[in-house]
Amino acid sequence: VERFLIGDASEIVVGAGLLRSDPVVVPRPDRRLTVILTQPAAAGWAGKIERSVAGSGIRAEVVTLPDGEAAKSLAVVEEVYRQLNDLGTRRGDTIVGAGGGTVTDLAGFVASTYLRGMECVYVPTTLLGAVDASIGGKTGVNLDGKNLVGTFAHPARVVVDTDILRGLGEDLWREGASEALKAGLIGDPVLVDLFERHGRAVPIDDLVTRAIAVKVGVVTEDFREAGRRAVLNYGHTVGHAIEVGCRISHGSAVSIGMVAAGRAAALVTGFTDEERQRHLIASLGLPLAAPAIDRDEVLRLIEFDKKRDQDGSRMVLLHRIGDPVVVAVDHEVIGAALEAIGV
Ligand SMILES: NC(=O)c1ccc[n+]([C@@H]2O[C@H](COP(=O)([O-])OP(=O)(O)OC[C@H]3O[C@@H](n4cnc5c(N)ncnc54)[C@H](O)[C@@H]3O)[C@@H](O)[C@H]2O)c1
Ligand SMILES: [Zn+2]
Repeated sequence: VERFLIGDASEIVVGAGLLRSDPVVVPRPDRRLTVILTQPAAAGWAGKIERSVAGSGIRAEVVTLPDGEAAKSLAVVEEVYRQLNDLGTRRGDTIVGAGGGTVTDLAGFVASTYLRGMECVYVPTTLLGAVDASIGGKTGVNLDGKNLVGTFAHPARVVVDTDILRGLGEDLWREGASEALKAGLIGDPVLVDLFERHGRAVPIDDLVTRAIAVKVGVVTEDFREAGRRAVLNYGHTVGHAIEVGCRISHGSAVSIGMVAAGRAAALVTGFTDEERQRHLIASLGLPLAAPAIDRDEVLRLIEFDKKRDQDGSRMVLLHRIGDPVVVAVDHEVIGAALEAIGV
């Protein structure tokens, strides 16, 4: 079992079979109730948590949310607050989010706001949830735009049982693998080597542990994203525009965004692994080029993101694998980057 700490109040444990060996909710005398928020596809795992919490003598209740992004709305938040009222939830009680990133984002938001803040535990059941959404303390729901309403609040614990992640289907694997590869590219050359050596068969425990270690390292240095946390946006400047413009999945879009960033880096920093990165992305079944879209549309979407994030024309590029830098790029470089992904 691997253990990471963020500050002194937030612990991440990673290991095979943790739902059997770890209490998930660490016993505390003033807790009467644990409310487990979940989604239909993760209900089996939520049931296991319910039985283990109840077995330790604490009342456990399960609340099932709508599937996917539909859970991340203020209407669902209000509905969950009311259910917490009806269950007689008190401040000393605990909320568990057991599901994909939508569940943990919503559970974290509810727990950080209901009664001005309660204890929260995440049990991610998707690879993306494990390596990205449940790490770093950002919670949120959607309001017109994605994640427009949220809080910074680390959960007390994140329990990553890699047995849950071992049997995921191809689509869910690729969604998480794209962000895990990103983590390797910005912070862990050994993880990149593992992807290169094993491809789709990369050992899940190593993948998850190493990708989490990179994100923990970055967010520990910079909780509120003033500076270094920006490196987590590798592949996301162009990627997010492609995600919105072409309506493809986030993981696919980030892979395409990394291809674009690879070309930009070859021009700006002298990055020599552009081709190696392309090969790696393709070998995982992730896309290298954007679906048909107008270049002006992509440029408009990139500009829109920039205005909102107030970060000028900055992009995360690599000097070398594991060595990122945030730099200002001009239109010529962006043009070449888009060319590289067929836009
Ligand atoms: N807070 C953050 O820092 C952060 C970072 C990255 C992403 N996110 C958020 O995470 C969300 C995306 O995460 P996601 O892809 O996990 O979303 P998700 O919760 O929608 O899960 C994806 C799909 O997998 C299903 N599923 C969940 N567990 C499963 C299992 N064990 N087996 C089979 N199917 C299962 C779900 O029902 C859903 O249909 C987005 O809302 C995004 O904004 C947040
Ligand atoms: Zn992302």
